[in-house]
Amino acid sequence: MKIFITILAVLGIFQADAFLPTIKSGTKFIPTTVGGGSSVSPSSFQVSSSAVTLRSSTTDDSASEEKQAAAFPTPTNQIVQKVAVAGATGRTGKLVVEELLKRNVQVVAMVRSLETAAEKLVNVTSNSNLEIQQCDLTNENALSKALQGCDAAVWCATGFSDAPSTSLLEKAKRLLKIVVAPKQSIDAVGVPAMANILLSQVQKTSSSYPKLVMLSSAGVTRPSWSDAKKQKLAGCADIPIVRLNPFGILDVKAESEQKLRDSGVNYCIVRPCGLNDNWPAGARPVFSQGDVAVGRINRQDVAKVLCDVLTLEEACDKTFEVVGLAGYPPPLEIAPALKRLKTDAQGISEAESEAMYAIMQQLLPGEKQDAAALAMGQTYEQLDKGETGRLGERGTENAEAAAPKPTNV
Ligand SMILES: *[C@@H]1O[C@H](CO)[C@@H](O)[C@H](O)[C@H]1NC(C)=O
Repeated sequence: MKIFITILAVLGIFQADAFLPTIKSGTKFIPTTVGGGSSVSPSSFQVSSSAVTLRSSTTDDSASEEKQAAAFPTPTNQIVQKVAVAGATGRTGKLVVEELLKRNVQVVAMVRSLETAAEKLVNVTSNSNLEIQQCDLTNENALSKALQGCDAAVWCATGFSDAPSTSLLEKAKRLLKIVVAPKQSIDAVGVPAMANILLSQVQKTSSSYPKLVMLSSAGVTRPSWSDAKKQKLAGCADIPIVRLNPFGILDVKAESEQKLRDSGVNYCIVRPCGLNDNWPAGARPVFSQGDVAVGRINRQDVAKVLCDVLTLEEACDKTFEVVGLAGYPPPLEIAPALKRLKTDAQGISEAESEAMYAIMQQLLPGEKQDAAALAMGQTYEQLDKGETGRLGERGTENAEAAAPKPTNV
């Protein structure tokens, strides 16, 4: 089946303080990558050297090996030998592939286009532990084939699929229609399909490690909150991405999360806050629940968390948000922090959410710490300085400019 797919770099879309679409056109499809445009003035935060000692993904010097060994008491490859990564050429997916290879785990990189894979995975294509598989993530047979022999999978993809059509313009129009139909999203189809395959082929009753780790995003539940809750927790409910929620993208992700919870497979859902490549990597990951977190995190740190949880029973059947607290080193183990979190079956109360909110609001970047005052495309630093963001004043942002659009039509 020929499909027309647009991959939205999910975490780019969900950046709380940035929303910059950059668009490329391919030969068979129009990939649309969103986000990554947040500019943080270098003077606005301090990069401590201790905060970045773990950031390199390619170094093989012994000091770094030692640190890695210390950070993962049980080496990842003793628990999972082979892991499939969906969305392996995306900006976070690529880092997950690199991180797993660094941990001597065999990786099946599930990609839409071999050309894109050759480009994005150029630094690891010679690694004998890497297998690149072209795979339509909405096709069960293709998924099943890619997952053969895998112990677990990490889902880093998002986007929308469509039937083939004759012109790019038709495809673009169709895309815009499809985008608002959650059923047609790759996540909503691919995540439960993958969960079912892992459930029947991989999950062993004796093992309580997450078998499917899903990269989601902070904010996915906020559009569905009651007005009273939105008002009470305005510092996270009234941020630009939630306010504008282009194409209902947050709801699509929330729906896919729920399908995964319902699937019966061992899972872990990771919801990073605003992805920002200028935010220091090697920061302390701070975990919370209740979808009340707002802040930033570097994609490298997200990739590490996604790989870490593959070997942590403490992460199983849990959903949590994560921000990167720059200036604090990462802990040797994240297991103690994850152990304190509730499973989704246990749930957390409104009172717990509110307490969590009160803490997380203090971790907002910038000085004003007024996330609700942000305009789409405006950074916390711009807000502090009274500068307008690149998409205009709050309330009059150019939503069209903020939304992902195909080019060449
Ligand atoms: C490959 O590695 C180099 C050196 O670290 C880096 O600058 C470049 O961005 C990497 N390329 C990709 C596609 O990851």
